[in-house]
Amino acid sequence: MKATNVKPATGKLGVMVVGLGAVSTTFITGVLMARKGLAKPVGSMTQYDKMRVGRGAEKKYLHYKDIVPLADLKDIEFAAWDVYPANAYESAINAEVLKEKDINPVKDELLAIKPLKAAFDKNYAKRLDGDNVKQCKDRWDMMEQIREDIRNFKAEKGVDRVVVLWAASTEIYVAPDMKYHGTLAALEAAMKANDTAHIAPSMCYAYAALKEDAPFVMGAPNTTVDIPAMWQLAEETKLPIAGKDFKTGQTLVKSGFAPIIGTRMLGLSGWFSTNILGNRDGLVLDEPANFRTKEVSKLSTLESILVAEEQPDLYSDYFHKVRINYYPPRNDNKEGWDNIDIFGWMGYPMQIKINFLCRDSILAAPLCLDLVLLIDLAHRAGRYGTQRFLSFYLKSPMHDYTVDEVPVNHLFQQYVMLKNAIREMGGYEADEEID
Ligand SMILES: NC(=O)c1ccc[n+]([C@@H]2O[C@H](COP(=O)([O-])OP(=O)(O)OC[C@H]3O[C@@H](n4cnc5c(N)ncnc54)[C@H](O)[C@@H]3O)[C@@H](O)[C@H]2O)c1
Repeated sequence: MKATNVKPATGKLGVMVVGLGAVSTTFITGVLMARKGLAKPVGSMTQYDKMRVGRGAEKKYLHYKDIVPLADLKDIEFAAWDVYPANAYESAINAEVLKEKDINPVKDELLAIKPLKAAFDKNYAKRLDGDNVKQCKDRWDMMEQIREDIRNFKAEKGVDRVVVLWAASTEIYVAPDMKYHGTLAALEAAMKANDTAHIAPSMCYAYAALKEDAPFVMGAPNTTVDIPAMWQLAEETKLPIAGKDFKTGQTLVKSGFAPIIGTRMLGLSGWFSTNILGNRDGLVLDEPANFRTKEVSKLSTLESILVAEEQPDLYSDYFHKVRINYYPPRNDNKEGWDNIDIFGWMGYPMQIKINFLCRDSILAAPLCLDLVLLIDLAHRAGRYGTQRFLSFYLKSPMHDYTVDEVPVNHLFQQYVMLKNAIREMGGYEADEEID
C-alpha cells in the first residue's frame, strides 16, 4: 500500500441539488432517514458494497469507506433550487414516491429546505410554469446569481465543501456546436452575448459551480458539461465533473444484459425498448424536443457493447428503438418493456422479453448519494476533469468525442473502472484489467 494524498473528509459537505422534484426529495428524505437509523440506504454502493484490495496473502474485502475517506451521511447539509416554491416536505408529498410514514419523521428538516429561485428559461422546458425563478439580465448574470447562492449557502450553513448535482428536468436538446461550445472563451462570449439558443440554464449552473470550487454532476441527459469548453474549465479550476443521465431502470438492465448476448456470441437483430411513466419527468419528456435529449442518451448504450465492426456476422444490422410514453396513472412507477430479437446457431431466431416494473426515484436516489460522495472524494484526491470511473452510474458516460474516444457502457467493465479508481485513491494498486 502506498501513502495517499487524499484530504480527509473533515467538516460539512454541502449538497446543492438543482431541482427539488421526485428524485431529489426521495434522495434527501432517504439520507435524512438513514442517518437517524430509520431507513436503510439500499442500492447504495458506498454504503454497502465491499471490494477486494491487495492480492494473495494480502487480500482483503473492505467497504469503500474503509479504503478511502468518504463523507459521513451525518455531515451532509442540503440545499436546492426549483422553479416551483414548494419546500422539500411539500414536494416529497406531491411526488407520491414515498409514503407519509417514511417522510414524517424528518418533516422539520424537509420543511427547512426551501428552494432557491431557479435559473430557468421556459424555452428549455415548455411544460413547466412555476414562478420561483430568477430575473436575469442575461446568461452571464444568471451564472453570477447562482455563484452568489453557492457562496451564501456555504456561509450560512458553515459547510466546508459543496457538490452541485443536477436532478432537474431534462432540457431540450442542445447539440454541441464547436463555435459556441468548443472553447471556454467561446462559451463565455456566448454567455455574455446572452445567446439563449446555445447556452442552456444548466450550463450556467455548471459554470457557476466550477467557479465556486464545487464539483458538478449531471444526472439528466443534458449536454451541459459534455462540451470541450466545460472540460477546459474543469481542467483550469482543477475540479471533477461527471455525467450524464442516471443509469437506473431500463438502461441498467440493457447494459447488464447485453453482455450476456455478446459473451455467448449470439446474434442480435433488434432491441425494442418502451416505457410508460406518469411523473413530471414523464410529462416533460412527452415534449418531442426534450425526449430527443433522452433518446440520444438511451440509444448510445447498446452500440458500444455489441459492436458491428468487431462481429459483423452478429451485430452489423440490428434495429434499436427506444420509446417513452407519458401515462399519468402510473406516476413514478415506471414500467419498461424490452423485446430482444436474437439469433443463434445457423441464424435461428429467438426472443427474450424483459418486463421491469420499477420505481424511478427509488432507483435513482442511491445513485445520487454515491455520485455526490464519490465526486467529493475525487476532488479531495486531486482528480479533475471528466471522471470516467463514475460511468458505472450513467447512461451516457462523458467521453472525448472530439478524438473519437469510445465510452465504456458495459456494466461490468464500468464496475472494474469504479473499483480501480477507489483502489488507487486508497493507495492500493489498480489491478483489474478491462479489455
Ligand atoms: N428517476 C430516474 O430513474 C432517472 C433516471 C435518469 C435521469 N433522470 C433525470 O432526473 C431528472 C429528475 O427527475 P424527476 O423524476 O425528479 O423529475 P421531476 O420533474 O419530479 O423534478 C424535476 C424538478 O426540476 C425542476 N426544474 C426544472 N428546470 C429547472 C431549473 N432550470 N432549475 C431548477 N429547477 C428546475 C422542476 O420544476 C421539477 O420540480 C430528470 O431530468 C430525469 O430525466 C431520472
